[in-house]
Amino acid sequence: MSLKILHVLGARPNFMKAAPVIRALGRRNDLHQTFIHTGQHYDANMSDVFFQQLGMPEPDVNLEVGSGSHARQTAEVMSRFEPVVLEYQPDLVLVYGDVNSTMAAALVCAKLLIPVGHVEAGLRSFDRTMPEEINRLLTDQVAELLFTPSADGDENLLREGVAAEKIRFVGNVMIDTLVRLLPVAEESTIMTDLGLGAQGYGLVTLHRPSNVDDPAMLAAIMQALHDISRDLPLVFPVHPRTRQRLEKATIQRSTSHVHLVDPLGYIDFLALQRHAMLLITDSGGIQEETTFLGVPCLTVRENTERPITATLGTNTLVGQDMHRLRTEVRRILVGDRKRGQVPPLWDGHAAERIAEAMLRWNGQSAQIF
Ligand code: UD1
Repeated sequence: MSLKILHVLGARPNFMKAAPVIRALGRRNDLHQTFIHTGQHYDANMSDVFFQQLGMPEPDVNLEVGSGSHARQTAEVMSRFEPVVLEYQPDLVLVYGDVNSTMAAALVCAKLLIPVGHVEAGLRSFDRTMPEEINRLLTDQVAELLFTPSADGDENLLREGVAAEKIRFVGNVMIDTLVRLLPVAEESTIMTDLGLGAQGYGLVTLHRPSNVDDPAMLAAIMQALHDISRDLPLVFPVHPRTRQRLEKATIQRSTSHVHLVDPLGYIDFLALQRHAMLLITDSGGIQEETTFLGVPCLTVRENTERPITATLGTNTLVGQDMHRLRTEVRRILVGDRKRGQVPPLWDGHAAERIAEAMLRWNGQSAQIF
């Protein structure tokens, strides 16, 4: 029986997770794929550039929900997605990660009794002040197939009462994309463009509400970055949320060695990560990518839903303690750096395992994989 799959994509981190799954499924001619972009991220440098660089098909439908409060954005995705999913009548809807679009689409499907597959299931920060944690918990409760990137995901789901037969430990799809595009990133000219040499800079990304929405916290972070940049120049591609907050704040922004730049495409950002001395971030995906690349990562959060990056990988949680951040940077600069290992099944083939599991779930042969 041919399988009709509908992918729901909404925000920047969804794109690199969906791309390898779409490619793996594209190798079969006995299934049909449809792509819905919710429009949660709409700036060209937050969305279009990723579709191009990841070689993804144009979305069949863009729901154009745009920005808004959590309730409004979630509600817009739900009400605009419902008629679309009813029209396409898929056998399975795939949702990715933990953004508002993920949870909104999953809830719509659950009410319509359409099975949902969740890629990157089971991750938990155990911090319910994070909007993403709420999205993870709810999505996993209504999903029919739960694809986990690491064994802690399986443990979390089992503890929450998810039936074992719904869970598939497949590995990390984000690493599939990284492995495929690393050779392309080596051709990027971004380092020359920015006048940087390998290991001669740190790379920064910050966009979590807990860091950028509180003016005092944002000011403390910017001061710490300024201090650090005296020893190590920093490149900081600024997320739209952070840009707005920086514009509102009275922080001295153009400090000499903190280079604020617009958000970068996937290839240039990967090139910069690969050759950085260290990363300072509050992103989830970057904790994973640096672990794979063996680059030290200092995470400005009190917790992580990706604990394996800290226990096995190169990640260190510094919390919101700027003294600790400065100390950890100094430590890395004198050569005392974490040497991590790559976690199990972060091998570039997670999407093939997802495709195989979906076909088996549908009673089809999965031999091509
Ligand atoms: C969202 C995700 C977060 C993810 C991040 C990656 C949720 C709850 N959060 O956060 O998990 O790590 O994406 O980027 O889903 N904006 C633009 N242009 C855009 C998109 C956003 O200017 O293309 C501005 C808007 O003013 C918006 C703000 O950025 O209000 C925040 O966007 P939103 O999608 O609500 O959340 P993110 O902070 O991007």
